[in-house]
Amino acid sequence: MKSKEIYLDHSATTYLDPRVKEEMDKYFCDEFGNPGSFNTTGLRAKKAVDKARKTIADILNAKPNEIVFTGSGTESINLAIKGVVRANKDKGKHIITTTIEHHAVLDTCEYLERYEEFEVTYLEVDRDGLVTPEQVKKAIRKDTVLISIMFANNEIGTIEPIKEIGEVAKKHKVLFHTDACQAGCSQDLNVEKLNVDLLTLNGSKIYGPKGTGLLYLRKGIKIHPIIHGGGQERGLRSGTENVPGIVGLAKALEICQKERNKENKRLIVLRDKLVKEITTKIPKTFLNGHPTKRLPNNANITILDIEGEAIMLYMNQYEICASSGSACTSKTLDPSHVILAIGLPYEAAHGSIRFSLGRRTTEKDINQVIKVLPDIVKHLRSMSPVNLEVKDVLGGIKND
Ligand SMILES: Cc1ncc(COP(=O)(O)O)c(C=O)c1O
Repeated sequence: MKSKEIYLDHSATTYLDPRVKEEMDKYFCDEFGNPGSFNTTGLRAKKAVDKARKTIADILNAKPNEIVFTGSGTESINLAIKGVVRANKDKGKHIITTTIEHHAVLDTCEYLERYEEFEVTYLEVDRDGLVTPEQVKKAIRKDTVLISIMFANNEIGTIEPIKEIGEVAKKHKVLFHTDACQAGCSQDLNVEKLNVDLLTLNGSKIYGPKGTGLLYLRKGIKIHPIIHGGGQERGLRSGTENVPGIVGLAKALEICQKERNKENKRLIVLRDKLVKEITTKIPKTFLNGHPTKRLPNNANITILDIEGEAIMLYMNQYEICASSGSACTSKTLDPSHVILAIGLPYEAAHGSIRFSLGRRTTEKDINQVIKVLPDIVKHLRSMSPVNLEVKDVLGGIKND
């Protein structure tokens, strides 16, 4: 990152914490062994992987052999969903998820519908982005094999009632997976308390190494691998283990969980200041996502009459990095599926900006955004042919 840059896109990715890098360093050139080799170099690498697995298992309140290391959040999600539903076809072919999941979940479900004759129920969310346990309960059928609902949304930051949904799933004996990729830094990941059977995390959102991920898989669950080969990770993820990556993932998660209470408090103060100042200083703006059940670092704000991309370009000139959609979907000009799913009309959905704060975010950074954004918006609106009203956009759904 350039020294003056104000990076407010931590939901897209985080920097590698230097403490994590330090822990990883020795596993590149010195301790480079293959954990599968039965020689002393390999055994030392295996020891490092075992230690990382134990650290993660302790954090999740799980057992080491319930942790599968993968190469990303996307891969973990694919393994969780495809792996479980394919292995449990004898029980049925119905999956439940929501309309606001990350594409890793949505596209996997669509693939299974199209090519493998699974049926998927996509639960709709309310204006705040919440799905209820009652909705889940109603959607469960005799042939439902898996529920996959995200812990926290990557765009609007809403935190779903995972524990309560897990209770419903448990009661109805349906397996429950949660995509916790956005929750690793700020939420309690105790899988017993959460009532989840499968949980996905990745390194790139928790100040860990990119290209790392994991799947918590409750003991006894039937699952098929999606990658075949050398039989690593108990046959569930073949391929030589990324030893530095695994060591880094464990260290990153350890730091996040140790520091989260203090850091959450700090971020909430900064986030709330940002939201309050923007929505009071700039007319025709409002917060997306649940006002309180949201990630401490997420502020997703709709600014009517202008394109999020245009705001981003202008903010880039001030070296402020935010996002106008999720990093993975911002390659297309379609409005975000999440913003549409919470009920915003197409013409308003284009104007949402996600600020996602992080460990290095300071009050000075927030003050700078508050200082420059009103003029950027004023300038862009002076050129805009659109003139929407908040009350029409929120159209009786729920105003705020
Ligand atoms: C909620 C959520 N799930 C899954 C992913 C995919 O993770 P990865 O990029 O590690 O494959 C992301 C990344 O943006 C995410 O935010």
